[in-house]
Amino acid sequence: MKYYLLKNLFILIAVFAFLFGNANEGEDIFKATCAACHTIGKGRLVGPDLKNITEKRSPDWLVTFIQSSQTVIKRGDADAVAIYKEYSNLLMPDNALSTTQANAVIKYIKAASSGSSSGDSQAAATDFLENATQKDIDEGVLLFGGEKRLTNGGASCISCHSVKDDRVFSSGTLAKELTETYGAMGSAGVSAIIRSSPFPAMNETYKNNPLTEEEVFALTAYLKSVNDNRFYQIPVDFGFTFAFFGIAVFVMILLATIVLYFKRKTKSVYHEIHSRQTAAIN
Ligand code: HEC
Ligand code: HEC
Repeated sequence: MKYYLLKNLFILIAVFAFLFGNANEGEDIFKATCAACHTIGKGRLVGPDLKNITEKRSPDWLVTFIQSSQTVIKRGDADAVAIYKEYSNLLMPDNALSTTQANAVIKYIKAASSGSSSGDSQAAATDFLENATQKDIDEGVLLFGGEKRLTNGGASCISCHSVKDDRVFSSGTLAKELTETYGAMGSAGVSAIIRSSPFPAMNETYKNNPLTEEEVFALTAYLKSVNDNRFYQIPVDFGFTFAFFGIAVFVMILLATIVLYFKRKTKSVYHEIHSRQTAAIN
């Protein structure tokens, strides 16, 4: 009897989940995978404002573009190539979405378009860094280079990224070099990506160790300063320094061994006894 009730309860929950879960599916996907780069009616971020995009492009075009923008661009589609050039060849990552999911997102964008304010929607979203100071930049240097731990314990940016900046010892080559990223995306775009990254490898790192809003701010301010100062940096080139010190230390150890153990026995004890005895015989 108990099981019977439990089973009904499950069916009820499943039905609710289907009805309400699905209604928000498009919005959920948009917020999780698109919002770092796009707004609907709030201006351009990394990519264009998507307000009223459903009036400009056909549903088929949108589905393919959302799933794999490069496929459409490589096909030579005029609209896609134009928008790609306009965003200075900035790549929109592929999304592993089914056609149904892509359509749900498109439906959400359409619904949200009618609700948002009109006006010049391709103007850049407001400057996120308005009140940034040198102190924020300095904080960003420490966080980026891992000299200061992130509050929630996420990996430091330098473990994957590098920048052209004398203040940090660049090492990360797992992901993109970030020196000019700010120039391409602006404060809204960069901060959105740091806050909630659309890139799986990076997202995975911070999913359970999210950055605080202050950290996002400091890191964005830092990446701006890196971009602004990129022409004044003299990349530290160690050249042969490491090899030179290696050889020098090796030679020093050799010399030290010779000097310190000058009186060491070089032959076996047996050899000495042998020569003493043979000397006596002769
Ligand atoms: C990393 C940033 C980024 C993410 C994440 C992203 N996009 Fe884009 N998107 C861009 C850029 C940049 C462009 C400009 C075209 C290009 O460079 O390919 C673009 C272009 C578009 C366009 C074409 C707009 C036009 O005017 O034709 C659509 C539609 C679009 N994105 C939808 C989406 C949807 C839906 C998602 C989420 C599933 C998404 N994008 C996720 C960066 C992104
Ligand atoms: C586990 C590795 C990893 C870590 C740690 C990481 N990222 Fe990323 N990040 C990536 C990957 C992968 C991309 C996608 C671009 C690429 O393929 O290199 C990316 C992209 C970005 C971009 C967009 C670059 C562009 O031009 O498209 C920014 C900005 C960025 N990361 C900032 C940061 C900051 C700031 C931190 C430190 C809080 C950080 N990342 C930590 C892996 C990482």
